[in-house]
Amino acid sequence: MGLEIDHAEGVTLTTKDGKTYFDFISGIGVANIGHTHPDVVNAIKEQAEKYLHVMVYGETIQAAQVDLAEKLAMVLPNPLSQVYFTNSGTEANEGALKLAKKWTGRKRFISFEQSYHGDTQGACSVTGRDIYRKPFEPLLPGITFLPFNETKRLSEIDQSVAAVITEPIQGEGGIRIPDQDFLPALRARCSEVGALLIFDEVQTGFGRTGKLFALEHWNTVPDIITLAKALGGGMPLGAFVSSPEIMTTFSTDPPLSHVTTFGGHPVSCAAGLASLNIILKNDLTQRADQLGKKIKTALQGLAQRSSCIRAVRGKGLMIGLELCDADTTAAFVRKALNAGLILGWTLHTNTVVRIAPPLTLTEEELGKGLDIMDRALA
Ligand SMILES: Cc1ncc(COP(=O)(O)O)c(C=O)c1O
Repeated sequence: MGLEIDHAEGVTLTTKDGKTYFDFISGIGVANIGHTHPDVVNAIKEQAEKYLHVMVYGETIQAAQVDLAEKLAMVLPNPLSQVYFTNSGTEANEGALKLAKKWTGRKRFISFEQSYHGDTQGACSVTGRDIYRKPFEPLLPGITFLPFNETKRLSEIDQSVAAVITEPIQGEGGIRIPDQDFLPALRARCSEVGALLIFDEVQTGFGRTGKLFALEHWNTVPDIITLAKALGGGMPLGAFVSSPEIMTTFSTDPPLSHVTTFGGHPVSCAAGLASLNIILKNDLTQRADQLGKKIKTALQGLAQRSSCIRAVRGKGLMIGLELCDADTTAAFVRKALNAGLILGWTLHTNTVVRIAPPLTLTEEELGKGLDIMDRALA
């Protein structure tokens, strides 16, 4: 986009030359509470004045880490109560994959076509699109990709599988929402064969889909959940969370099986706690649900007038607008940008426009954004 940012506040980015843009992709799934939230900035300042990095992971007790871990354990379903902080989403997935190998003693993984889990070698190995894996092979061996949302293929998960990793809603795959029975059936199959189930909620977490975590849409609890993006309130932070029973496997044979110097940086954790408190206090989850419905209704109205709109889908404020071809999609995004609205397409599906504004979006901002989309489409 080539925009040189001067400052960012709420939904708005302001460039050095004084132009303003509505960020309707939230820095890609990060700014759920809007940009530069004052509570987060204050939490960062307060923590920075106390201490920055003091010691590698877990060796000292740091209140910012403990408080955020405690809060996450409170809002996640049982038994997801032991938190391991990382710096990013891909590292959270690395930790989850290693944990599953160590706990089960098995080596194979199942993932899904069109998934995206990050770009370090393990996460890249389970990312479901050839063009992003091929240049980096050999990657992890023993990975099988199944089609997403095909319940009948789940019988291919067997006793040799350490874990199945999936996003509850595929983000980069084009905002793909599974049928109501898919994730419960996946849970049942994993339990049957003793494979762990990993939900990658890096993109779907923290109210984005109209629930605090997307797993709530299907009442399905994984063995490990991975988090990042909005977790840090704008600071770099990731986490994988599991039961104390499973997580304890990292403490022995060898002790310190998985360590990190900066994962759970106290400044990031302070920012993360402030951000989560804002989401909970202002019930932004509910707001995402309501605003998402409004946007979908408005886009469906546009679809009546444009033969180029193929589909409008999503949950909460994680919405995909599928257009007829890649060129039209790129032109639409470009026209919206020129009119002051930042949109984007998804990594694996270049005909799906991502619409994912901050959950703090006002009705007025929403109206203006929709107006720009309407004109760009015309
Ligand atoms: C579902 C999902 N998992 C993992 C990642 C990787 O996260 P990070 O870029 O923080 O490594 C992303 C990033 O887009 C993602 O969308």
